[in-house]
Amino acid sequence: MFFKRVLPAICMALLFVAHMAHGQGAPALSVKKAQTLAANAKLGKPISKDLFGVFFEDLSYAADGGLYAELIQNRSFEYSASDRKTWNPLTAWEYTTEGFGYGTISVETAKPLHFNNPHYVLLNIDDAGQQGVGITNAGYDGICIKAGQKYDFSVYVRQVSAKPVAMQVDLRGDKGAVCGTFSFQTQAGAWRKYTGTITATASSDTARLTILARQRSVLAIDEVSLFPHNTFKNEANGLRADLAQSIANLQPKFLRFPGGCLVHGDGINNIYRWKNTIGPVEQRVQQRNIWNYHQSTGLGFYEYFRFCEDIGAKPLPVLAAGVSCQNSGGTWKIGGTGQKGLSLAAMKGYIQDVLDLIEYANGPVTSVWGAKRAAAGHPKPFGLQYVGIGNEDKQTNDFRDRFKMIYDAVRAKHPEITIVGTVGPAPSGEDYDLGWKFADQLSVPVVDEHFYEKPEWFLKNNSRYDSYRRPKSKVYIGEYASWGNTLINALSEAAFMTSLERNGDIVQMASYAPLLANLKHTSWNPNLIYFDNKTLVPTVNYYVQQLFAVNQGDVYIPGIISLNRPGARADSTLAASCVQNSETGDVILKIVNAGPQAATAMAKLSGLGMMAANAKIDVLQGQPSDKNTIDQQKNIIPSHAEISVAQLSGYVVPPYSLSVIRISLKGN
Ligand code: AHR
Repeated sequence: MFFKRVLPAICMALLFVAHMAHGQGAPALSVKKAQTLAANAKLGKPISKDLFGVFFEDLSYAADGGLYAELIQNRSFEYSASDRKTWNPLTAWEYTTEGFGYGTISVETAKPLHFNNPHYVLLNIDDAGQQGVGITNAGYDGICIKAGQKYDFSVYVRQVSAKPVAMQVDLRGDKGAVCGTFSFQTQAGAWRKYTGTITATASSDTARLTILARQRSVLAIDEVSLFPHNTFKNEANGLRADLAQSIANLQPKFLRFPGGCLVHGDGINNIYRWKNTIGPVEQRVQQRNIWNYHQSTGLGFYEYFRFCEDIGAKPLPVLAAGVSCQNSGGTWKIGGTGQKGLSLAAMKGYIQDVLDLIEYANGPVTSVWGAKRAAAGHPKPFGLQYVGIGNEDKQTNDFRDRFKMIYDAVRAKHPEITIVGTVGPAPSGEDYDLGWKFADQLSVPVVDEHFYEKPEWFLKNNSRYDSYRRPKSKVYIGEYASWGNTLINALSEAAFMTSLERNGDIVQMASYAPLLANLKHTSWNPNLIYFDNKTLVPTVNYYVQQLFAVNQGDVYIPGIISLNRPGARADSTLAASCVQNSETGDVILKIVNAGPQAATAMAKLSGLGMMAANAKIDVLQGQPSDKNTIDQQKNIIPSHAEISVAQLSGYVVPPYSLSVIRISLKGN
């Protein structure tokens, strides 16, 4: 009696109350609809609400030269040969003398702007000539400017000579034509920041920024910055609007940052330290990027948290487990240093850093680190729920000891935080087995699995999680991609994603990786979004991610769709899922056909409540290409239409397609 009558009624009431409590975004459902949803929920199993998110790493110029909207490359003269053999503090800069001016330029370190930012340029101008003497920055492969758009300029200058100096800042477009200018006069004394807005009078993809002193003088110059005024959400020290928006359009439930291998770094001195990345940008600690370039740290933990909040994604910071990457120093080559652990003495401070991060994100403004968050402009906590510890680390005693120290400390002080552990770089093998054994021993709440595999692997492994033991650690598939950006790659990922929904009780989160790649500096393929300075190209894989994320459900309902291919056996190229979204009340079908022949899908919807007569359908379909170039597949984009629900008892699934069908229940 209790189970037959009272329990469903309680469930229904709870569901109804939950919807009411959910607030603005979620319209209240009618009692009848809530009843139907509660009945459907009984047929299925819950799906993690955080299932589909994104992975961000500053790889392939994803941050500096990408999402981070700074247009000046090497703005603080901190590039060096340790970033890349051919680099130095004047990389991307040149000395500019015009109209017969002359003097000398040098890079100095005495009396710097800040000890974390030791290098600056000293201009010693003997004769400023007719137009001035100064420096020019080439941006990241040129600066892309648009006529009529505003750009926010800033620079720190220490006037070394006695008299004030007239300065001119020019945006120079094609053939050096000045297309925007700003002037100021220096003042005596210590380092001082000068700011101005420049409106571009012409467009150019290869503009440069020139700063000229118009008088005989000695000047120290540092931290030269130029941002588009229109950053994402118009935030200071912000993000490139189109790239940020393309990530927001994925509606990710979480955002993992700052990587990847970047987290555990190339040697222990290269481990990513979040505290180095907050505070005024000119005071942050910069360092070599493991992917062979430079991290300005301008996109730091504050900006990551702010971005998460802006796009409604839960933050998932990942911190090193006190050990460096096992490939440090190029271990695959002879002479690499391999995985190294912080000394046990150093671990004390490191563990404190992890605890401080939680306070920085969630602590009250009266706490030490909460106060720093508030000082940055965000008194409200960021609502941190997950913290990742480790990335693909080799399962050694050094790793295990340090992981456990961090794990124990976080659990003791912050039991409310869900810790995500790591089980190696591959879907099987020694680190995977040992990682899982260790996770079982410690009862780590969630572990991070990674796989980069061929499309066939994704099709054949559709049942991978069906047989995972429950209950044990939940799974975060932190990095996965099939090797390519062709339609077949994307469809194999789609087929696999139906299995993640089916196993959404144990797969807590999943994120395709990597997310962004600058077309001129791509050091890893495939990626989800490619870009240059002017535009971006979402891949066919992007549309798969988007179709799943915007159509996520919270209940998986089994046995609704049967698939067959006339004259052939249904095989791993066919996959489907049926989920229900209890916020909207919609029932959502996803049907994948990664094969060359059409198939038939029969959806038995009659038991799921009164449906509207028509449903919305998105179909991603095309001809696969052998050539794995993004150009080959860039015309494959989803088409939107309506379909009658009656037709779904015999839906013809086109070859090489993903269909996402969204059906509303009748009534509100
Ligand atoms: O996503 C690219 C790299 O792949 C990540 O940095 C690393 O974690 C993995 O090996």
